[in-house]
Amino acid sequence: MQFTRADFPDDFLFGAATSSYQIEGHGFGGAGPTHWDSFAATPGNVVRAENGAVACDHYHRWAADLDLLRGANLDVYRFSTSWARVLPEGTGTPNPEGLDFYDRLVDGLLERGLKPAVTLYHWELPAPLADKGGWRNRDIAGHFADFTETIMGRIGDRVWSAAPINEPWCVGWLSHFLGQHAPGMRDIRATARAMHHVLLAHGTATQAMRAMGMTNLGAVCNFEFAAPADQGAEAARAARLYDAYYNRFFLSGLFRGEYPDAVMEGFAPHMPAGWQDDFEVIRAPLDWLGLNYYTRKLIAPDAGAWPGHHEVAGPLPKTAMGWEIHPDGLLHFLTWVDRDFTRGLPLYVTENGMAAPDLLRDGAVDDQPRIDYIDAHLAAVRQALDLGVPVKGYFTWSLLDNYEWALGYDKRFGLVHVDFDNLERTPKASYHALARALAR
Ligand code: FCB
Repeated sequence: MQFTRADFPDDFLFGAATSSYQIEGHGFGGAGPTHWDSFAATPGNVVRAENGAVACDHYHRWAADLDLLRGANLDVYRFSTSWARVLPEGTGTPNPEGLDFYDRLVDGLLERGLKPAVTLYHWELPAPLADKGGWRNRDIAGHFADFTETIMGRIGDRVWSAAPINEPWCVGWLSHFLGQHAPGMRDIRATARAMHHVLLAHGTATQAMRAMGMTNLGAVCNFEFAAPADQGAEAARAARLYDAYYNRFFLSGLFRGEYPDAVMEGFAPHMPAGWQDDFEVIRAPLDWLGLNYYTRKLIAPDAGAWPGHHEVAGPLPKTAMGWEIHPDGLLHFLTWVDRDFTRGLPLYVTENGMAAPDLLRDGAVDDQPRIDYIDAHLAAVRQALDLGVPVKGYFTWSLLDNYEWALGYDKRFGLVHVDFDNLERTPKASYHALARALAR
């Protein structure tokens, strides 16, 4: 790595992020079925129809995995709690094994001197709630607040930070408009509703945690730099619209109590009744904002239905996801979010990282491209700090190679290699480099 801890402010935190369904092994410990299980079981949705039933078996190997975090000299661990593990029916009676699991995990982190940063929902919606319309049904907001009270009633006294929902854009647009994630819908009405309800649920959960006396509550959104594919006015307009429904929709709701006009051009006829009255809940005050950032997209106009555009391949070097590497986008978002929305609120980069082939040879994985990627993005963070943006921490995605959703186990994002035949863990060169850079 080109940096050490000393290049950052004393209180700057370094972490790694994971999510429950991607690592735990959903088949263990009495967890209920989720919409990801049925999505994965439907032909054509997921590479080789792989699912999270075993994943990294973190459910049983959590202690050794927490040792890996400690060994990398990290300060904080961002993980998520599975709704269906805690409440197998989505509502009603909790699964004691599920509560015990997160209880052990939090204590295990504290014992190792690591701060627990919890995300309540990272995409595995309990199937019984999906049956009732999932994020399309307004009732989800109340059910989510109940889940929040149940899990935080058990661990909320010891967590360092909490955010309700990982990446509202993925829950809404990617899953209901593009159909690429569960529940795999392609429907504008479903999308408009899901995107609004996900913010409403964010608000009800935030209120529930405040009422329990919890502090350090935030939100985690994902951002993609939208660049026009050519010099023309139409491409510029297309990129602006992409930016509006991807990057501005949720921030506008959370921090301004409104949605961008450009998005409402498509969504207005499909919004749920009374949506304008929900902003008081949605705008529940926050203590920080988390930004997940990976790439940029080139956007070209087309004659299709709203939003009337498509992505085209760009010229920059790409990761194994086919995502262009564009660290300037991170600098753009950190400065823009601070200036236009959060105004001095602490910001965290809650996810950033890359997928690479990462071959295990003679017990080692040489992943120099990942080291370079992290270096380049941390340089962008340092530029933002120099400009006075209050960035307080950086989490790399991910600690372990894991279940990369519709792409199954092929795409490796970890600092630690996982052999999915025997689940053996091997720290990669990036892990060792990070451990050296962060040594105190
Ligand atoms: C983010 C997700 C995370 C992982 C990375 C690669 O959008 O939050 O679960 O899939 O992308």
